[in-house]
Amino acid sequence: MSREDSILVTGGAGFIGSNFVLTWIREVGSTVINLDSLTYAGNLNNLQSLSENSKHIFVHGDIADEELVGRLLREHKPRAIVHFAAESHVDRSIVGPGAFVQTNVIGTFALLQAAKAYYLELSAEEQQQFRFLHVSTDEVYGTLEPNDPAFSETTPYAPNSPYAASKAASDHLVRAYFHTYKLPVLTTNCSNNYGPYQFPEKLIPLMILNGLEGKPLPVYGDGKNVRDWLFVEDHCSAIRAVLEHGRLGETYNIGGSSEKANIDVVTTICDLLDELAPSTEIGSRQKLIAYVNDRPGHDRRYAIDARKIKQELGWEPAERFESGIRKTVAWFLANQEWVENVRSGAYQQWIETNYAERVAR
Ligand code: NAD
Ligand code: DAU
Repeated sequence: MSREDSILVTGGAGFIGSNFVLTWIREVGSTVINLDSLTYAGNLNNLQSLSENSKHIFVHGDIADEELVGRLLREHKPRAIVHFAAESHVDRSIVGPGAFVQTNVIGTFALLQAAKAYYLELSAEEQQQFRFLHVSTDEVYGTLEPNDPAFSETTPYAPNSPYAASKAASDHLVRAYFHTYKLPVLTTNCSNNYGPYQFPEKLIPLMILNGLEGKPLPVYGDGKNVRDWLFVEDHCSAIRAVLEHGRLGETYNIGGSSEKANIDVVTTICDLLDELAPSTEIGSRQKLIAYVNDRPGHDRRYAIDARKIKQELGWEPAERFESGIRKTVAWFLANQEWVENVRSGAYQQWIETNYAERVAR
């Protein structure tokens, strides 16, 4: 193992991955080898503050490249792999599911194969230290009715979108590598994240940017679908807690105890924009809300029962939704250069593909 306990992070140029890398280097301080293939969602500008920091080693490559991953593991001898890399957007999985199967299933399989081969070469002491932490989602559990109890770690899997199904498949592979090969794995299933560096195809950053520019705010269906929102840095602290103290082979649900209907999230963003970026030309942002055709197979409600991680590891979110969403709106307002960089031609193309058919109702 490396003398200073490095870790290998996959997908560390994406939204949660880059927040994880930044907070890891700030809070823990050991070296991060960051393997990312820089899809449309990967952005090295997220990590600009580390450009002179030797603790961050960026490697441009694919998790499905087993040989590359094997080489990185042998060269750096990390004490853990923290696996974020994925295709992550439900709407894109509906338009083009193939990429989700490729990265989330085949890519995770290749990563597990490389990790297993590396693990078997370690000394007994190094094996004791090693961890493979798989970052997954609450969407594997399917959907809830308004009065159903929240998802717990024993809720049966019932994924409904190609994205959720591909993540469920990856969770099952990770589980199998623990039971069959004794690879020391941990899995986390988290609810919806929001915060700095989120790619503006997802609800919260999309609404902030459209609202800022006075564009329509496309709310799917009746706007009453419910998500359990968690500030991204709280997700990162939960992952660190599971990595350090989680029981091998276990899964931990992570959530913000912050269930909100989409329409309430959108009106909150409108009010914050009116307060922090008032515009006489645009007027009240709530007037921009446009109900549009629903997402096919749209899950009605997600909610996380996070008692296990609280009781076993003492983890709780630090941020409340009200403070986290204010910080997030303020971050997007203060980081217009970052915004301009991500809204490339490929982004515009996606916006046209996804919203052209969703005529206002
Ligand atoms: P993201 O789409 O913002 O980032 C994904 C990153 O993975 C990008 O940097 C991309 O370039 C990289 N990547 C994609 N395919 C790759 C490949 N084949 N090889 C190497 N790198 C590759 O995603 P996110 O929102 O940051 O989510 C990160 C992880 O957390 C995912 O596994 C996702 O399923 C999970 N998750 C996300 C949320 C959420 O609300 N965003 C909630 C729970 C769990
Ligand atoms: O629950 C965890 C999951 O949360 C993660 O695993 C996914 O990677 C992440 O993308 C997120 O999935 P959602 O589908 O819940 O997130 P999204 O931001 O795409 O949508 C949130 C809700 O807002 C959902 O009910 C759909 C709705 N929505 C979304 C968009 C983009 C709209 O009403 N209008 C929109 O334009």
